[in-house]
Amino acid sequence: MAFELKYLGHSAFEISTEKGNLLIDPFLALNPNYQPQNIKDIFVTHGHSDHLGSAIEISKNQGATITAIFELANYCVAKGSLTNGVSFGGELNFEWGKAIFIPAFHSSSTPEGIYAGEPAGILFEIEGLKLFHAGDSGLTQEYKTLNELYKPNIAILPIGGHFTMDISHACIAAEWIGAKTIIPMHYNSFPPIKVDVNLFKTEIEKLGKTCLVPQINETIHF
Ligand code: NI
Ligand code: MN
Repeated sequence: MAFELKYLGHSAFEISTEKGNLLIDPFLALNPNYQPQNIKDIFVTHGHSDHLGSAIEISKNQGATITAIFELANYCVAKGSLTNGVSFGGELNFEWGKAIFIPAFHSSSTPEGIYAGEPAGILFEIEGLKLFHAGDSGLTQEYKTLNELYKPNIAILPIGGHFTMDISHACIAAEWIGAKTIIPMHYNSFPPIKVDVNLFKTEIEKLGKTCLVPQINETIHF
């Protein structure tokens, strides 16, 4: 087994590896009973509060490092967390594998409304498997480059519309990215992003891909 992926609600995921656990966009308002354990690294795609979530608090409590775009990392440092400020395209090495930040088609500001650098998606490579978390994004041609350069195996895509891609654009994104396994996120958390996730699953399966739809706190083994 390469890793375990646990859905924490909205765009939040925990990845468990043999070398420790990582969190992505740990907004935990929909999952108040979740207890972070053995977290080494926290990745935040952009500064909006439904993605930054509890990152700063968990960083302090767990001694975990927040990896984020430089300006957002600086904001987190000022709040007392451990950080690793990065930008697009650099291969970042960790004990458990690699990460690369990819441009997202969105915006990014802190909960106080201050510019937080550019928004990102993040490609992870863990024991030979490549998993892409798109963050918040509209459909972007960056996904064609992502496929050409890295050939992701798994893509986690926002499908709720309004702030991000909707179901139809997420299906195009799935094709452009080329991943065989697709996981939806950023839907049904608030009224403007309510969608029929079963319709997404059907459309993805028509493309000959696998669509996994985890419930909150469900774990997928890769
Ligand atoms: Ni956002
Ligand atoms: Mn969002």
